[in-house]
Amino acid sequence: MFLSKEEEEMLSGEGGRAVSKAMQLLVALGDVLGADRLIPVESTQIAGVSYGNIGDAGLELLEDWAADGAKASVKSTLNPAGMDPQRWEEMGVSEEYHSKQQRILRAFETMGVETTCTCTPYLVGNKPMRGAHIAWSESSAVGYANSVLGAMTNREGGPSALASAITGRTPRYGLHIPENRRPTAVIDVKARMNTTFDFSLLGYTVGRIIGSGIPLFEGVHGADSDRLKIMSAGLAASGGIAMFHVGGRGVRDDSGSVEKICIDQKELELSRQRLTTEGEPDLACIGCPHCSVQELRDLAKLLGSRKVCSRKALWVWTSRGVYNMPESKRYIDAIEGAGGKVFTDTCMVVCPLERSGYKHMVSNSCKAAHYVPSTAAMKASVTELYSAVEKVLEGGL
Ligand code: F3S
Repeated sequence: MFLSKEEEEMLSGEGGRAVSKAMQLLVALGDVLGADRLIPVESTQIAGVSYGNIGDAGLELLEDWAADGAKASVKSTLNPAGMDPQRWEEMGVSEEYHSKQQRILRAFETMGVETTCTCTPYLVGNKPMRGAHIAWSESSAVGYANSVLGAMTNREGGPSALASAITGRTPRYGLHIPENRRPTAVIDVKARMNTTFDFSLLGYTVGRIIGSGIPLFEGVHGADSDRLKIMSAGLAASGGIAMFHVGGRGVRDDSGSVEKICIDQKELELSRQRLTTEGEPDLACIGCPHCSVQELRDLAKLLGSRKVCSRKALWVWTSRGVYNMPESKRYIDAIEGAGGKVFTDTCMVVCPLERSGYKHMVSNSCKAAHYVPSTAAMKASVTELYSAVEKVLEGGL
């Protein structure tokens, strides 16, 4: 891989030990993945933040980076952590877990990374321009950034995104190259697409069927930002899909070699069944990916004057940035007034959800229902927002 003179110097240690380590990592990665050179990035989004995910080994590694003088050279934010920093006790998080999670966040802070812990950084200030090269890790955010915002990123691991934060560079391969961003399959959507949940199911179903590549969706209407963000999450949860096109947003490959796949109601129903377990859910989780203000508003409206059943719970997940927006306050008050809890900086998949004491989670997000059975050893089910919430309310909706 070609390196400029400045990059050679960074690699050989002229910029300090941390920069050299970060360059070594990126050069090794670029060589393996066939990159021709490094390119500058505008921002990074770094995964591997939850203590539950990275454990003591990851914590020590991050503290080593910080001790070596690593500093982010471009705007860098974090994926959700393993707890709400204020309300961790209400989540059942232990003292030890809390203190180690705090050390992780302090290490990132020392490195100049903003401790904005969210999978929707684009809603709270880390929103790249169309055509910008970025190095992001969180799979749903990668899909959204490539497909909706028109930025360019591969799906980075936590360490490579951190190395990009330090060097301000990423290897040029994959989705950084315009020719690699063309559709590889056309998805003819014949299913009903009325709710946000339908978009989650569609994404999950297409990921399940094609596994990888770049789908171009045809026949999809009413795809707003919230629907595309939940579809991105579904696509990445069941497959490795980091980019898609919707209707006019994509460029149809006219070579005729592109595979065409029809998705009907039966296929969506099959995904729903696979993600649904027998039994009565006692915990509804809404906010995967993290809720936008509009989603908090819709949930508050849905709840009206109803109350969450005392034996059950409604947990809502959002970013601190959205939580602190003045327009969110009345919706959060309404959700909490109904007996729900709105947590920030974490989510149902990366926190120790099993410590909540609940046994069966229901969500309107296929990604949440896909991961929770393995991350929290709990039962999981998936359904549309209305019925997920109804399951934990006194007397239903
Ligand atoms: Fe975000 Fe957690 Fe879902 S990181 S996409 S809320 S699994």
